[in-house]
Amino acid sequence: MSNDTPTYQNYIGGTWQASYSGQTFANYNPATGELLGHFPLSDHIDVTAAVVAARDAFERWRLVPAPKRGEILYRVGELMTRHKEELARTMTIEMGKVLKETRGDVQEGIDMAYYMGGEGRRLAGYTVPVELPNKTGMALRDPVGVVACITPWNFPVAIPTWKMFPALIAGNTVVLKPAEDTPLSALRLVELLYEAGLPEGVVNIVFGPGKPTGEALVQQPNVDVISFTGSTETGRRVALYAARALKRVSLELGGKNAVIVMDDADLDLAVEGILWSAYGTTGQRCTACSRLIVHRAVQDTLLEKLVPRIQALRLGNGLDEHVDVGPIINAKQLARVQNYTEIGLEEGAELVTGGAVAHLQGDLTNGHFYQPTLFTNVRPDMRIAQEEIFGPTLSVITIDSLDEAIRVNNTTKYGLSSAIYTQNANAVQRATRDITTGILYVNSGTTGAEIQFPFGGTRGTGNGHREAGIAGLDVFTEWKVVYTDYSGKLQKAQIDA
Ligand code: UN1
Repeated sequence: MSNDTPTYQNYIGGTWQASYSGQTFANYNPATGELLGHFPLSDHIDVTAAVVAARDAFERWRLVPAPKRGEILYRVGELMTRHKEELARTMTIEMGKVLKETRGDVQEGIDMAYYMGGEGRRLAGYTVPVELPNKTGMALRDPVGVVACITPWNFPVAIPTWKMFPALIAGNTVVLKPAEDTPLSALRLVELLYEAGLPEGVVNIVFGPGKPTGEALVQQPNVDVISFTGSTETGRRVALYAARALKRVSLELGGKNAVIVMDDADLDLAVEGILWSAYGTTGQRCTACSRLIVHRAVQDTLLEKLVPRIQALRLGNGLDEHVDVGPIINAKQLARVQNYTEIGLEEGAELVTGGAVAHLQGDLTNGHFYQPTLFTNVRPDMRIAQEEIFGPTLSVITIDSLDEAIRVNNTTKYGLSSAIYTQNANAVQRATRDITTGILYVNSGTTGAEIQFPFGGTRGTGNGHREAGIAGLDVFTEWKVVYTDYSGKLQKAQIDA
């Protein structure tokens, strides 16, 4: 370990703490292999301390008027704006996506800070008429308690804000466990929360991998809500733990998102949307397009336009403004992407471009790069058309009608995002009605959800909850209904009415 490599700590109850065991793990730059720092490898002892601190802070934070909680979030938004460039660079260095995208990631967090800050003066419940005279009823949103936020590495600032800010505005306290590949971005975000005036203990951060850290957090009896974004396998395990303890759990899992291109589509427009949503973030988005469902009549023309554009994408260090596609997050994911190329070839799909690890020169020799990849002749039931790859691999499926396109789109175990390119107003309405998805884009790619709308998907993409928008508050609030009878006598609902 070189002497100038920084060692970071957990932040628990307002103090910086090493892990109780003294163990650490290393954080690397995926483009260069450079060692960025050491972080505490937390176990159940650290996690329990964080949950105790959050529980203690909850009794005070829930009593802070929501508009005041909102003012803190506004200040967080201002600080994130001021530090946007620095946060974006930190993120690019530790997870690789290009600066343009990491700036967007921070912006998504800023948007959420202002949006949820505004909720401080709404947090709307409702009142409706009651059936008896001299009586009122109102439904209020109460906080639930301590929220465990377990977040992935692909949106290292945005996703923690989608979970923490609605939780906080509603009066909950938080233990955040960010992905072990992106601890530094999360740490910087938490520092800004405290700079904005958040009371100590309201947000606590513990570092470490899924096992032991995430697992300990999920199993901690004093956690009331678990909000998890990550792989479907891990999500299923989280849900099983939560079920045993009857805990509320919100899961945001995989996607196998498709762009449908119909025979009347504007093909140049479609090419732009396909490139951006399939290869942006190196395909490492849960909204990334990994299936291209294209009408036979336009397939050849579309591919003639698309393939040279894929081949022209520039791979490299995301800090370089000329680069289009950054590295894959780590060696394990790189091997997974390569394995899917082999699966595609074995299944009989045709590899048109890419399909290999990219070896870059200079200080990128140790980076984890993969060539942007395209398969054609893909059948809808092939594994490369069904399973989430989470890399720059796109599978082309040919269809002959809108009905077939919709059926193919709907026949995966995921349902996060879909897109359709067509100029036909009737086709748009049919797609809107029949595509089973959480998000549908018309004449745009599959990525780019905005925070004022619910985010999430159908089928195996989650367990029915949504993040962001007003719907995002539901996971972090309990409905409490208060009836007040001012008649001065016993009135029996349903009987005296
Ligand atoms: C994710 O990939 O986990 O819609 C989130 C989008 C972004 C969020 C993606 N706003 O692509």
